Amino acid sequence: MNRTEPFAAVDIIRAKRDHHELTTDQINWTIDAYTRGAIADEQMAALAMAILLNGMNSREIVEWTTAMINSGERMDFSDLSQPTVDKHSTGGVGDKITLPLAPLVAACGAAVPQLSGRGLGHTGGTLDKMESIKGWRADLTNKEMHQILQDVGAVICAAGPGLAPADKKLYALRDVTGTVEAIPLIASSIMSKKIAEGAGGLVLDVKTGNGAFMWDPDKARELARTMVNLGNDAGVKTTALITAMDVPLGLAVGNALEVQESIEILQGGGPADVRELTLTLAREMLELAGIDTDPAEKIDNGQAFDVWQRMVAAQGGDNNAPLPTASFSHTVTATESGTITTMNALAIGIAAWRLGAGRARKEDQVSEGAGIMLHKKPGDQITAGEPLLTMFTDEEPRFELAQQALDQTPITIGSANEVNRLPLIIDKIT
Ligand code: URA
Repeated sequence: MNRTEPFAAVDIIRAKRDHHELTTDQINWTIDAYTRGAIADEQMAALAMAILLNGMNSREIVEWTTAMINSGERMDFSDLSQPTVDKHSTGGVGDKITLPLAPLVAACGAAVPQLSGRGLGHTGGTLDKMESIKGWRADLTNKEMHQILQDVGAVICAAGPGLAPADKKLYALRDVTGTVEAIPLIASSIMSKKIAEGAGGLVLDVKTGNGAFMWDPDKARELARTMVNLGNDAGVKTTALITAMDVPLGLAVGNALEVQESIEILQGGGPADVRELTLTLAREMLELAGIDTDPAEKIDNGQAFDVWQRMVAAQGGDNNAPLPTASFSHTVTATESGTITTMNALAIGIAAWRLGAGRARKEDQVSEGAGIMLHKKPGDQITAGEPLLTMFTDEEPRFELAQQALDQTPITIGSANEVNRLPLIIDKIT
C-alpha cells in the first residue's frame, strides 16, 4: 500500500465482493482517490462490478453520491429572480422533450438550467440535436449561463468539466466494463450532476420499455425511487414519472428532424404523444416551482415559441436558417394492410443510429440530417403500399445497415385488438 493513502483499493473491493457495507471513510476516499488517479481503472472496474452484483444500501448510495458531488463545483442560482427547476430523462428513442419543455416552463415563469449531454449508442443526445441549428453553441461559461437564465429563463448547454468530475471518469469506465446497469451507480451518477447543478426542483422522466436502458418497469420504479430519495434528502424537491419507451416518442428520430418536430410542438402542432408528455412534465415542474399557470396556454398564445427563439439566439443560433437535411432518402412501404400492432423503439433507434444520427465512439461526428421519419405509429391503420417510414442519410450504403436493424425486429401489422404498447405515463413516484 502507498504509505500516504489511508486505505488499499483491494481491501475495499474485497469488502464489497464479500457483501460488506462500505464505511463513510472508505467511500469518501474511493471517490477522491479515483478522481486524482490513486485508484487504477482496473480496480475501480472491479469495485463497480462488485457493486453491480451485490448492491449498496441507502446510506452507502447517499454517501457515494455526496462524495461525487464534492469531487467538483456546485452551481448556485440563488441570485435569480425566478424559482429554478430542471428535468432529467434517462433517455430514449425520439426523446426530444427537453427542447420544447425548457422554453415552455420558462414562459410560465420558472428558470430552467438544462445541462445536457451528447448521445452515445441508440438514444440521441440533446446537445447533438440543438447543434443542428446553425451557429448554436453548447459551451457556455457559468456567467453566460446565469445571464441567459436571468434574461430568457431557459438555457440548454453542456455541463462544464468542473461538475462532478468523478462521475465523468467513472461513467466512461462503466460504459466499457458492463457496469452501467447498476441502480446505485446510475442513481448516484445522475443525481450527483443534478444536485451539483443546484436547481430548486427536479422532475425525473424514467423511461421503461425495449428502447430504454431500464426495460423492466419494476427496475425503472426502483431507480426512480432511489433518485427521488437522493434528491429530496439533498434539499432538491424531486419527483419522477415512469414513462413508456417501447415505441419511439413522436414521429421524428434524428437530430435536425427532432428539432423540427420540437418547433412544431411549440407552435401548437406536432404529434399528440410529444405534446402530452411535454405538458405533463411541464405541470410537474411548475408544481415543484410553486407556479400556478396552465402551460398549454403558453403554447397556444405563442409565448413558449417566443422563449425558444430567444433561447436559441442567445446561444448564437440562427432561427431563420433552414435546418440541415440529409442527401439521400428512402421510403419503406407496408407489405400488407391492417393496423400497426408493434413498433420496437430499440430497432428504430439502432436503425437511425446506423443512418448516421448517433455515434459509436465519443469522438465520432453525428450527421445532422440523418434519421427516420415515421409515417404511422401503433394503433394506426395502414394499406399495403402506403409509406411506413422514411430513412435519411448522407451515405447511401447506410440504408442497407439500417434496414438490417429494422428486419431484426420488424414493425408488425395485424388487427386493432392486437395493438401492444405501454401507456405513455405509467406511474408517478414522489
Ligand atoms: N446517465 C447518466 O448520467 N449516468 C448513468 O449512469 C446512466 C445514465
